[in-house]
Amino acid sequence: MKRFKKILKWTGITLVVIIAGVSIIAATRQNTKYEAPYPDIKASTDTAIIAKGRHLVLNVAHCVGCHSPANVDSIDFNKEDLPLTGGRLFDLPVGKIYSRNITPDKETGIGRYTDAEIARALYYGVHPDGTVVYDFMPFHNISKEDMTAIISYLRVQKPVKNKVPENTLNLVGNLVKAYMIKPVGPNGEIPAAVKKDTTAVYGKYLAMSVAECNGCHTERNLAGEFTGEPFGGGAPMDENNGFPALTPPNLTPDPTGRIYGWTQEMFINRFRQGKLIPYSPMHWSSFKHMTDDELKAIYNFLHTLKPVKTKERK
Ligand code: HEC
Ligand code: HEC
Repeated sequence: MKRFKKILKWTGITLVVIIAGVSIIAATRQNTKYEAPYPDIKASTDTAIIAKGRHLVLNVAHCVGCHSPANVDSIDFNKEDLPLTGGRLFDLPVGKIYSRNITPDKETGIGRYTDAEIARALYYGVHPDGTVVYDFMPFHNISKEDMTAIISYLRVQKPVKNKVPENTLNLVGNLVKAYMIKPVGPNGEIPAAVKKDTTAVYGKYLAMSVAECNGCHTERNLAGEFTGEPFGGGAPMDENNGFPALTPPNLTPDPTGRIYGWTQEMFINRFRQGKLIPYSPMHWSSFKHMTDDELKAIYNFLHTLKPVKTKERK
């Protein structure tokens, strides 16, 4: 009995020491600085390139959905340029994270940064100050042509001063950040340009690298790693404060898939209708403005996928 108590005591002391150690190391690791290359990207003043950037920012890459504090569903922002002042709160189990001010304000926005610093943050997940960018924006493989257009559009926006609150992580968040979060970068060489047509090749690029359809329609674990079959349906998304969770459906060409039997016209028309379930997290109000050709390309790509049976859920 005495011996047992002794073991218990030492286990307890060891545990306390380990926990203290882990927490101290976690604390010192909160502001780890990372190295990453500065991409060779320069904003252009060409109006055609800026117009392309606008289409990407508002519609296909839906930056506006996260970087505007407005309720984008209620606004036809294809007509209006909403200020991308950031500050939208993502209240996650690991803490509170805010989108940043990406208007050209020199004090609180991207006016402080060079084109290469902005491109580095998006391609390599490293903020201009060297800290990690939480991977909300997997645009790591977007073409240099499209990245140039995006930054060109951001540069000509009206600067708006808006200091976004600092992110605050809880204990779990600090541990996750210290030991699990690393900057995410491109896989392979960043393409200079991707041919814009209606092929599955372009559709794959749009769905995976620009519109991020796979981020929701493929199942992922809590660390964000893909665990399910590509486009076989996502995990239920329970972020709607009291509304029932919605599950991103299976988009593969399987009879149990949501778009099985849909013609290309039906697919395009569904997008033109925009958001039908008012609390859906899908960025319908952006995606509804994708061009017919972009939607055809995505449709064609989805039909090249391996058919996957929809997972039964209780
Ligand atoms: C799903 C939501 C989401 C989308 C979509 C999104 N962002 Fe972000 N963005 C964020 C969040 C959240 C942060 C803050 C991340 C952090 O604190 O590490 C951020 C940070 C940034 C930063 C870093 C700024 C800085 O001060 O370091 C830039 C630049 C940026 N976003 C640009 C864009 C552009 C351009 C697009 C569209 C091509 C876009 N974002 C789309 C959520 C999003
Ligand atoms: C932020 C997560 C998210 C992203 C990104 C996303 N979706 Fe969805 N999607 C959902 C959810 C949740 C639903 C179910 C609720 C609804 O229908 O709005 C859905 C439903 C759908 C439906 C079925 C609509 C219907 O009426 O039956 C289609 C088709 C679809 N998504 C295609 C896409 C495509 C293509 C993309 C990329 C351009 C995409 N989604 C991006 C979450 C997402």
